[in-house]
Amino acid sequence: MQEGADWHTWPTYDAAELGFRDHWYPTIWAHQVGEKPVPVTVCGEKIVLVRDGDVVRGLHDRCPHRGVPLSLGRRQFPGTISCPYHGWTYGLSDGALRAVITDGPDSPICGRVSVATYPVVERMGLLFVWIGTLAEGEEPPPVERDIPAELNDNAFVLGGRTEIRKGNWRFAAENGFDEGHAKYLHNTALWRLFKVMPTWNLTRIVERDGWLIRVQDEVHWDAEFPGVGRFTNKRWWKRAPLPDRPGKNGDANPVIAALDLPGFVSIRLPGILRVAYPQFIHYEWYVPVDADHVRYVQLMVRFETGAKALAFKARYLAAIRWLFHGQFTAQDAWMVDVMDSPPERLYRPDLSLTAWRRHVEKSDLVVQPTAPRRGH
Ligand code: FES
Ligand code: FE2
Repeated sequence: MQEGADWHTWPTYDAAELGFRDHWYPTIWAHQVGEKPVPVTVCGEKIVLVRDGDVVRGLHDRCPHRGVPLSLGRRQFPGTISCPYHGWTYGLSDGALRAVITDGPDSPICGRVSVATYPVVERMGLLFVWIGTLAEGEEPPPVERDIPAELNDNAFVLGGRTEIRKGNWRFAAENGFDEGHAKYLHNTALWRLFKVMPTWNLTRIVERDGWLIRVQDEVHWDAEFPGVGRFTNKRWWKRAPLPDRPGKNGDANPVIAALDLPGFVSIRLPGILRVAYPQFIHYEWYVPVDADHVRYVQLMVRFETGAKALAFKARYLAAIRWLFHGQFTAQDAWMVDVMDSPPERLYRPDLSLTAWRRHVEKSDLVVQPTAPRRGH
């Protein structure tokens, strides 16, 4: 072990290149799945999403015959998908081989082969897929378990993006919860013209309801660095910086105020970040795709209905989508792509990273194996 290389003290985390089983993960928007099947990869598993009337079904994206992706298949008969190569035709609800076009109606292999199916549910317009092991007839836990409680319990309006970015999901998750980068990397983001952050602060991590919350103590908006010079994150046109926690100044949205968060940024398993501003919350899901790619699902949520909700939606499409979900988080994606770690030499603010890794280590998680998985 190299000096300062803390990496190898996190065996579960280190092994979780493809994330954790037995969780629901958001993928693409439900409206993106029409008549045409859509392939997605989640935790290294290749899945085809197929619309079947009002619902979307998930099947292992591989024909057991010769391994052709079913996402290239034809929708010829109701409730089925047919492999484009030899016409093996599978039921969408159970993955069972129903007919083999090129072997006649009495094909003896019918009913003896099936492709694995994946539970899929739609929430917030997104398709959540269950990656995990279920016994015969067993149902997965409700998807609400893997969605922040305030999103299950309140009415809101949202804007969002779902896209695949370079880098392992763990680097993306660590970047999100990384204390120091928010103050320095994003200093140049256009978004920061409107939201002022400290130059530095002492950090504490508080654990509550499964979330790790980053608390800012001793906040410094600018600082004089001996022998180097002065650095400030203040903006001359923006007199009042953000309070040191959401809702502190009494101007917060009631739902956000009720969360009574001691800090802006929180993270929880299986890789969900929450950045709470006084009036809205930004969420990021880091969904493992493969070792080198992460699905980055960003939601900007405002707990409003009616005219205020519509106004927010308009503001999201006109500005926030580009400023925050575009340029701001593209800075994160840039770092996640170019960083070369391990080895690493951590510093004081990195206790946010080590708290997250420790949290993973002490949680009861099933690591997704890195060997290629096959449906059958
Ligand atoms: Fe799918 Fe032959 S490979 S039917
Ligand atoms: Fe960031």
